[in-house]
Amino acid sequence: HPVPVIAIDGPSASGKGTIAQRVANELNYHYLDSGALYRLVALKAMQCHTDLTDQTTLATMATQLDVVFAAGTVRLEGTIVADAIRTEQCGILASKIAAYPPVRDALLSRQHAFRLPPGLVTDGRDMGSVVFPDATLKIFLTASAEVRAERRYKQLKEKGISATIPDLLQDIQKRDARDRNRSVAPLQQNSDARILDTTSLSVIQVLNKVIAWYTEVC
Ligand code: C5P
Repeated sequence: HPVPVIAIDGPSASGKGTIAQRVANELNYHYLDSGALYRLVALKAMQCHTDLTDQTTLATMATQLDVVFAAGTVRLEGTIVADAIRTEQCGILASKIAAYPPVRDALLSRQHAFRLPPGLVTDGRDMGSVVFPDATLKIFLTASAEVRAERRYKQLKEKGISATIPDLLQDIQKRDARDRNRSVAPLQQNSDARILDTTSLSVIQVLNKVIAWYTEVC
């Protein structure tokens, strides 16, 4: 039997990260935040002043990235960068470099390495479609752009990062368009994914739904 995978895809700020982490805790499974990998490449590129159109160099960077996810945080070359990768600037840059096929290819085996017993919960844009096409359960998590902007606002505020809802809404809409319209691994609702609209659901309600679906399929 292959190691089970719960793949949660969806647009930015849909609550994927929160839900995937909670599900992983509940089941005692491993967790992969695939967006963090794109953000880490973006951060490294910013630090190195890399030419952001140089796909080959960015892909090499992605392959060689010295990253450790442990103890609830993430380290890039030994330095904690959990907050540094969460900025809007880093997210926007991540979505730009995520459109480059060589960068996506470079991150593929790194993502597969997270599939370890007893199981994996992962979130991103193409977890069910490209990275783990044989996932046990595939979910497309979504919410209205307005609700996503509000959630992101609260999340940033808690971290002491200043932002405004109209700016965040605009960023979210731009990022959605870029993630949906790119030619490789675009964000899309696949026919084999179950759609979960969280616009008017609480975290607990979403968590219960995911666990119920998983119990159904495994
Ligand atoms: O999910 P998060 O907002 O952290 O992801 C940052 C960016 O990385 C996304 O806007 C998207 O362009 C890209 N990404 C991706 N494929 C994934 C996860 C993230 O293209 N599986």
